[in-house]
Amino acid sequence: MAKDVILTGIRANNDLHIGNYFGALLPMVDMAKTRSADYQINLFIPDLHSFTTPIEHDKLQNQIMHNLKLFVAAGLPLDNPNIYIYRQSYIPAHSELTWILDCFTVYGEMSRMTQFKDRSAKLGNERVTVGLFNYPVLMAADILLYGAKYVPVGDDQTQHLEFTRDIAGRLNKQFGELFLLPEPAAKQHEFFGKDQGLRIRDLADPTKKMSKSEESDKGVIFLGDDPDEAAQKVMSATTDSFTDGIKLDMNERAGITNLVQIHDLLKPDEHDQIMAMGSYQDLKTKVAGTVRDFLIGFHDSLKIVDDETILRKLESDETAMSHTADITLLKVQQAVGLRPKT
Ligand code: TYM
Repeated sequence: MAKDVILTGIRANNDLHIGNYFGALLPMVDMAKTRSADYQINLFIPDLHSFTTPIEHDKLQNQIMHNLKLFVAAGLPLDNPNIYIYRQSYIPAHSELTWILDCFTVYGEMSRMTQFKDRSAKLGNERVTVGLFNYPVLMAADILLYGAKYVPVGDDQTQHLEFTRDIAGRLNKQFGELFLLPEPAAKQHEFFGKDQGLRIRDLADPTKKMSKSEESDKGVIFLGDDPDEAAQKVMSATTDSFTDGIKLDMNERAGITNLVQIHDLLKPDEHDQIMAMGSYQDLKTKVAGTVRDFLIGFHDSLKIVDDETILRKLESDETAMSHTADITLLKVQQAVGLRPKT
């Protein structure tokens, strides 16, 4: 019997930051290391999503390769036949299914997507693209083509996952069982052993999530950052003026809570030690040291990643996944009348 699929995509429009790492890459790598005998693992680069906001296009090829290397440096095993890596644009079924799904998606539901509202408010009407508007539909196609059941994503993508369930349910209702629906958010969290979706905050402005699209990278720790500079970013993190010790409260004390959260993700066993720290300064010094050590280790792993092995795996995985995706696409094309039913 076919294995259930765990799938996620991480855009290559920039270097990855620790939010991407903890929100999506690490859960995926953990699954790949521990559950690949029971599940199929798809970790892909949604390259068509890369320029939903403006990028430097001549850097995209290098960035894609770099991010694939980050996957491997994070521990993704390449020599496992249940783990697939691929670039979205190499599998045309993603674009074709998107167009079909677009025609069953209404303007109102895309306009309500929080991420679209936030980004378009920043960019203004003349710069916001139709691509940014309908990218949740492309994301739905990415998931539905492979019948993915579990999709590890950060908190900011939960709404898009819900939309994926909606559009799949809508087509199933009209045409019969075409798609397998991904599990709802609560079940996803349960599967990945969390109580909610993860949202790492910007260090300089902890009211916002850490994001690669920020104009300033003062509050963003990239995986490629120089470890000392990253430690410096932690030391300069915005906190608050309470003086009654380390207390967790994402509303009133978001900066310090965010730092504790980052430390917990890197060194879960030291939570009690961190909470007992006497001052914010001591806590920052400890978190800065832990982040520095993490990046030093990560960069060491990155140095030994071999491009050739990745390229060989990409080629064979893209062939295999094209085949899978085409089977789903044909079912949909037949259902909507684009291909004869056999
Ligand atoms: P992207 O590339 O913006 O982000 C990649 C992943 O990182 C998570 N993430 C965060 N998690 C915690 N804290 C943060 N501050 C933080 N910032 C980002 C994101 O939630 C995401 O899981 N549309 C997706 C990519 C995508 C995709 C898919 C994901 C395309 N197709 C299909 C899953 C399935 C995106 O833009 O992620």
